[in-house]
Amino acid sequence: MSTDRYLTFALGKGRLANKTMELFEQIGISCEEMKDKDSRKLIFVNEDLKLKFFLSKGPDVPTYVEYGAADIGVVGRDTIMEENRNVYEVLDLGFGKCRMCVCGPASASELLLHHERIKVASKYPRIARDYFYEQKHQTVDIIKLNGSVELGPIVGLTDVIVDIVETGSTLRENGLTVLEEICPLSARMIVNPVSMQMENERIRDIVTKLRDIN
Ligand code: PRP
Repeated sequence: MSTDRYLTFALGKGRLANKTMELFEQIGISCEEMKDKDSRKLIFVNEDLKLKFFLSKGPDVPTYVEYGAADIGVVGRDTIMEENRNVYEVLDLGFGKCRMCVCGPASASELLLHHERIKVASKYPRIARDYFYEQKHQTVDIIKLNGSVELGPIVGLTDVIVDIVETGSTLRENGLTVLEEICPLSARMIVNPVSMQMENERIRDIVTKLRDIN
């Protein structure tokens, strides 16, 4: 296997990328170029280790990995589930822990119990659809929103929301509560299926080292 080929990482911009690089430093993978906060560069290289890193919007990470533009990606499990791309999920990185939940006013719990045809707002329409249709066998109307989803039930757009709950303070401050838990979430490492074969040794080495420090 040639070590001249760069191994390319796609990282979800922001806190996720920063936490990922902190973790990578612990296993001897660093990228000095990336530490310059004033830089407008989108792609960073570690020539010695033959590694490349680029930052993208979270939902685009699985896309880059599926098409092989990145061998490896790091992104939240919520995004992996929503994007449903052909990638291997190889490791739970253990940070960014939160939950995907159905939330709403406490009064909406009745509507869930009786399988009523309710309206659901979410940034994650696929996750919401899979949960209600495949798991609960409940017919619902899903309305896609792009953020501040908690507004849905508050302004009367929907009965409930499907959204991420971390500390629960957004819900509390808006008079909403967790009604049902869908699944736990955290940052995950994903790999392109062809890269998994072609770069097996290098990728396995990284995964093993990360698993050992976790
Ligand atoms: C996320 C999520 C909730 C909030 C949960 O929103 O959609 O609104 O964080 O966190 P908490 O339980 O700690 O309050 P984000 O801040 O990403 O913004 P958005 O609502 O615009 O998507």
